[in-house]
Parts: sequence; structure tokens; C-alpha cells
Amino acid sequence: MGGYPDDLQRLVEDHLGRLTYSRRDATAGLEEAMRYSLLAGGKRIRPVLCLATGRAVGIDPPELLDISSALELIHTYSLIHDDLPCMDDDDLRRGRPTSHVAHGEDVAILAGDALFAEAVRLACVQPGRPERVLAAVREITAATGVDGMVGGQYIDVTGEERDPGALRRLHSLKTGRLIAACVGAALAIAGLSPERQAPYRRFATELGLLFQIVDDILDVTGSEEELGKPSGSDARHGKVTYVSLHGVDRARELAAESHRAALAALAEAAGETDTLRRIADFIFTRTS
Ligand code: IPE
Ligand code: IPE
Ligand code: MG
Ligand code: MG
Ligand code: MG
Repeated sequence: MGGYPDDLQRLVEDHLGRLTYSRRDATAGLEEAMRYSLLAGGKRIRPVLCLATGRAVGIDPPELLDISSALELIHTYSLIHDDLPCMDDDDLRRGRPTSHVAHGEDVAILAGDALFAEAVRLACVQPGRPERVLAAVREITAATGVDGMVGGQYIDVTGEERDPGALRRLHSLKTGRLIAACVGAALAIAGLSPERQAPYRRFATELGLLFQIVDDILDVTGSEEELGKPSGSDARHGKVTYVSLHGVDRARELAAESHRAALAALAEAAGETDTLRRIADFIFTRTS
């Protein structure tokens, strides 16, 4: 059986749909804005990756739904803020008008803030040995912060990373670290030894970089309809990307190298890794 693990995606989708945040009438609009972006049908790669890692190391996927959902809430917050007029200024996301277009900039910023805080709360209620859950929460928040996604976004909006090494580091920070933390969080909760974790972690780091290389390629080759977000956004904003720096053909080769390296690392990991391999193949070949 190949292809994207739809069974895990459905588990995530159902769980996200059931999440509520407050019973207070006065904040119902905020909750509506959060759900508007969260339940707009993303690919759910991050939570699915966490569940698939759990499956590989012997944790039944439904047992990891709290921490997996936290990862999707953080990702969704990052998308809402990434699309703001002061950031990438995009008006379409997940096939819908972006949050600030639908709800105004003030509510969009707050919806993002609230998603992040609710994510941390959810991660903290993940069942498991407290020291392991704490390690997973630390891993996810570190991957989101200054030495991770937000730091990467900062370099993205302020810097001009024109050499290949610097761009690779930028991609690894802004996108790679959160993706790697999806694997890392499941490993932490499983309490695997550092030796058993190592190949999974090498796989995850490579997969995170691959994800953003493919995102850069799709920004040029993909259609708005398939992507559910504007194509050509990077060029419009003069962004330095794998495509602007290397050209589409070389960017594709670099993506293939990353994909091969991810699979080579995964081949050294002990466990039921088939679902993880399918996710890596999907990330490499995806068109949306
Ligand atoms: C897009 O992420 C933003 C990046 C970090 C590259 P996804 O491609 O995972 O977006 P959704 O979640 O499927 O909408
Ligand atoms: C987004 O990178 C990275 C984030 C942390 C949100 P992009 O700006 O390339 O993401 P898209 O293409 O808008 O989804
Ligand atoms: Mg951006
Ligand atoms: Mg963007
Ligand atoms: Mg992009």
C-alpha cells in the first residue's frame, strides 16, 4: 500500500474539528476565526508525521492526538501571520480568503496568538510520563521560537540570503525545525534511547528541508487552484528561494537529493517505518 496515509489524516481532521476553546459568548468571534483557518482543509502533514512516528516506535496513533493537534495549531498560526499585509501580503490560503481578509488584521493577529497559546495548552495535556511530555513540549516550543520557525521567518523578512548555504539554513529554521519536531515529539514521548532516535532525527531534519524546497518549486510551477494559495508569491515579493537561486531544474535535483538522504536515514531506523516512507514520498512528489 502506497500513498499518503489518509487514515491518519482523517483521525487528525476529526480531532481538530472537535476542539473548542471557550464557552464565553464574547469571544465566540475569535474562536470562529481560529476555526476558519484551522478547519480549511490543510494537508495535515505535521500531525500525520507525528502519528506516523508514533506508529513506527510502538505508540498507537490515537494516543498522540493532543500533541499532534498542537503541532497543527502552531502551523496554522504561522500561516495566518505569514499571510498578513506586513509579511507576505497574500489573500488566499487553503482555498479561502486569508484570515485578515475575512476577519480583519486585528482579529487575524489575535487568532494566530490564540492558536499558539492553545497549542501549548494542548501539548501539556498530552497523556504520557510527565518528564517525557515535558521534553516533547520543550522540543516543539524550541522549534517554534527564535532558534526555529520564528527566527527563520525573521531572517526571511529582514535578510537577503543569497548564498546556497545560508538559504539552506534559513529553510531548515523557518520550516524544517517544526517538521523535525513532529518526529521528535513522538520520539520523546516514546522515551527511545538517543541511539535509537538518531536515524529518525536525521530523517526528520532532511524531510523538513525537503518540504520547503518543494514549497519553493510549487510557488513557481503550481497553480493557485491546486495550491489553495497564490502561486508566484515569492517572485512578486522578490524572495530568494531555491528556484530564484538555483533555477527550477537544479532545485528539483536538490529536492531529489534531500529525498534520497531522508530515505537513507530512515532505512537505518528500527521500527515499522513504512508510513514514514510514504509521507517522505508524498512530500517529494506532492502538487499541492
Ligand atoms: C505551507 O505549509 C507553509 C510552509 C511552511 C511551507 P503546508 O504546505 O503544509 O500548508 P497546509 O497546511 O497544507 O495548508
Ligand atoms: C512559510 O514560508 C514558512 C512559515 C513558517 C509560515 P512561505 O511564506 O513560503 O509559505 P507559503 O508559501 O506562504 O505557504
Ligand atoms: Mg513567508
Ligand atoms: Mg508565505
Ligand atoms: Mg512558499
